[in-house]
Amino acid sequence: MEREKELILKLDSLHRLETEEWEELIRCRDDDVAEFAAELARKHSREIFGNQIYTRGLIEISNYCKNNCYYCGIRRDNSSVERYRLTREQIIECAGIGYELGFRTFVLQGGEDGSFTDEFMCDVIGEIRKNHPDCAITLSLGERSEKSYRLMYEAGANRYLLRHETADSAHYRKLHPEEMSFENRIRCLYTLKEIGYQVGCGFMVGSPGQTESCLVKDMELITDLQPEMVGIGPFVPHHATPFAREPGGTVKQTLFLLSLIRILKPDVLLPATTALGTIDPKGREKGIMAGANVLMPNLSPTDYRKQYELYDNKICTGDEAAECRVCLANRVSAIGYEIVTSRGDAPGWTQK
Ligand code: 5AD
Ligand code: FES
Repeated sequence: MEREKELILKLDSLHRLETEEWEELIRCRDDDVAEFAAELARKHSREIFGNQIYTRGLIEISNYCKNNCYYCGIRRDNSSVERYRLTREQIIECAGIGYELGFRTFVLQGGEDGSFTDEFMCDVIGEIRKNHPDCAITLSLGERSEKSYRLMYEAGANRYLLRHETADSAHYRKLHPEEMSFENRIRCLYTLKEIGYQVGCGFMVGSPGQTESCLVKDMELITDLQPEMVGIGPFVPHHATPFAREPGGTVKQTLFLLSLIRILKPDVLLPATTALGTIDPKGREKGIMAGANVLMPNLSPTDYRKQYELYDNKICTGDEAAECRVCLANRVSAIGYEIVTSRGDAPGWTQK
């Protein structure tokens, strides 16, 4: 145990570890070590963000997807989901409602839906930018061309979330059908960064076939890419996918990894995800206590929430945006934090 604590302190001072050291640390299942990491992680988030928790209003703009990832509830072959796509007006209205509720960052997330052409997206982004010049616009629309990423950036988008899902190419093959390319996904992340987006990568904890060595590669990718954000949450099986019977990720391992990521990159924006809140009623609070500093409540119209079910039993699908806002404010204040109204850019960030 002393050895693992030493490794955590080494990570804290060097912000990197050797592959074998990562392996040793990630293998560790000791509660004492996890608590040691959580305390250090929390100290860093307190120093950098105070007791403030950033919120992002998530607008799930479409559940159509051309991809067929084995883990995901809205995969192409799942014919049991009712598909929907928000209109231009609905998306803009959601952002307006969010603005009134105090959100200053909107995340437009969707499956890889071919109807969202560059022209359509740039128009919507431009309109939101015009209506709310003080807000940040984050996109989470999967893999697109460099040209598309550039056009949307020029139209006013600031940030892009694209979870890499796993940094191990063999593991990537186990999670995705042949038609998807690991190389392209990683390339997209570096392209986004080069264009000037604040970039978020991330992965599921405990996805089928994930080994410690996969997680080491995830940590090494974060070390190399230096993303502004990292989104991680437990894998939660969805009943209508090939992984329906696979075990889900655990709260404990997710929390430990959150802490290690905070220590690796103290100023990173780190959400306590909805998936974590789904497998444990206090999951998001525990995430914050392990070093997370962002929450991403749902702003999508209530009528469609159930249909954006990436995994089973997703929380908040019946709640209005305003209810989630109040609920989260109460939850964070109960653990000594507060929700803030600000764009919540990565520390030191200046728009190119
Ligand atoms: N469990 C947990 N997370 C999932 N995602 C997709 N399916 C699942 C699942 N079954 C995550 C992926 C994706 C993000 C939007 O949701 O990591 O990038
Ligand atoms: Fe949605 Fe609590 S955050 S109801």
